[in-house]
Amino acid sequence: MESHHPWSTFIVLPLCGILLFNVSMNGATTTSALPVRLVGGRTPCEGRVEVLYQHSWDTVCDDDWSATDANVVCHQLGCGSAISAPCCAAFGQGNGSVLMDNVGCTGSESYLSYCPHNGWHSANCGHGEDASVVCKALPVRLVGGRTPCEGRVEVLYQHYWDTVCDDHWSVRDANVVCRQLGCGSPISSPCCAAFGQGNGSILMDNVQCNGSESSLSYCPYNGFHSHNCGHHEDASVVCQASGTAMVTMSAETFAMNSVDSQSAGGSDLITADKNVSAYYGGVAVLECIYSGSREVNSVKWANQSSGDVKAERSTGEDHLPDARIKFVESNGKRDGSIIIYPIHLGDIGTYTCSYDVQGEKPMEKIVILSLIPYPGLPIPLKIAIPILVIGLFLLIPGIVFFLYKKGYLSILAKC
Ligand SMILES: *[C@@H]1O[C@H](CO)[C@@H](O)[C@H](O)[C@H]1NC(C)=O
Ligand SMILES: *[C@@H]1O[C@H](CO)[C@@H](O)[C@H](O)[C@H]1NC(C)=O
Ligand SMILES: *[C@@H]1O[C@H](CO)[C@@H](O)[C@H](O)[C@H]1NC(C)=O
Ligand SMILES: *[C@@H]1O[C@H](CO)[C@@H](O)[C@H](O)[C@H]1NC(C)=O
Ligand SMILES: *[C@@H]1O[C@H](CO)[C@@H](O)[C@H](O)[C@H]1NC(C)=O
Repeated sequence: MESHHPWSTFIVLPLCGILLFNVSMNGATTTSALPVRLVGGRTPCEGRVEVLYQHSWDTVCDDDWSATDANVVCHQLGCGSAISAPCCAAFGQGNGSVLMDNVGCTGSESYLSYCPHNGWHSANCGHGEDASVVCKALPVRLVGGRTPCEGRVEVLYQHYWDTVCDDHWSVRDANVVCRQLGCGSPISSPCCAAFGQGNGSILMDNVQCNGSESSLSYCPYNGFHSHNCGHHEDASVVCQASGTAMVTMSAETFAMNSVDSQSAGGSDLITADKNVSAYYGGVAVLECIYSGSREVNSVKWANQSSGDVKAERSTGEDHLPDARIKFVESNGKRDGSIIIYPIHLGDIGTYTCSYDVQGEKPMEKIVILSLIPYPGLPIPLKIAIPILVIGLFLLIPGIVFFLYKKGYLSILAKC
């Protein structure tokens, strides 16, 4: 004991920690994280569910197949959340074997193969019962513009923001993008990387929307990543950025407009979204519009609990202490809606929007900004913790043995 340098403890302890952590994390990633794909749909984000198991794409039976299970599949594929979980081979029958039956995901799994089920190939189903999913449209964002409602079009596909080529790009396509983002009508559909070139891959080419689609990914286009373009042909849009509420998203996040347009407590002359949800790094528009006919003296947004002013517009000039928070430029003082971009964690919370209107009592609305969690990226604790514990139990005897063999056992006493 006495012969050891004291610093050996400081080296051995962290090494033990790093070793244990690495081994358990490797354990976690090898726990049957099986790839899935969707076959037979119009986009890679809908179709029959197939799971790659021992070099074969096998199907999933629709017994107990639910929206929760479908959500796990959509998130695993980077396709946002699920819209529906069709049964009965809605996208045609598969030809592999039936791999999973009675799937019962809890919703927090990052892979379908982590979900409870009967056991591999233990199924009492035919291919007439193949399970399918339809995922939400692919999220879209605009990059490089002065507002979140103009810029280069980028589409989130499998966790990467990819660009769109300007071949056949038209104002009809821009219409779909603007609508999808809640940015009103399009003003123009610039070609040729008008807002700078993207750096992801080029996802869509020859996009030809008819204008009424609810999402860009529902428009006709060449298959994903099938194009003859360079980034100097990146498509862009400029939207009107109306005062309507809008929620979009940014890096590694998924679109899910979930604005609750019920008005919260306060004056009936103000319309506001009660609960706005956004992704970390994304955009939120907190709407607050005065619909009365009197003169507006000022409109002010503040942190409800601390009273800190976030944005204020009165006669004179705007007071905007945080560069990420701006007023939506539309109807002057009557529209006091603000844009926050990019959203930080500290932005979640409750805001008050208050109007000072000539001849009216002060009017106020409460708006709650909440975050939508990132889907499916981290390994669920439910899986990671048991593996970590098992890893520790297996590893400690191994280390003891190794150190014993090497004659370093006395150091281990401190480990
Ligand atoms: C099985 O289905 C896949 C895709 O659904 C297809 O690519 C493959 O050719 C089919 N194989 C047979 C033997 O039918
Ligand atoms: C790619 O572009 C995005 C936004 O346009 C930027 O955030 C990111 O840092 C860029 N990445 C590289 C590798 O240039
Ligand atoms: C536009 O396309 C969508 C989806 O492809 C279709 O449902 C709709 O009927 C089309 N509308 C027009 C006006 O062609
Ligand atoms: C607001 O919306 C988020 C996400 O949609 C939800 O988790 C939260 O409970 C809602 N809060 C209120 C107060 O309604
Ligand atoms: C509001 O103020 C409280 C107390 O200072 C702080 O904890 C919270 O993060 C603030 N919220 C926002 C949205 O600024």
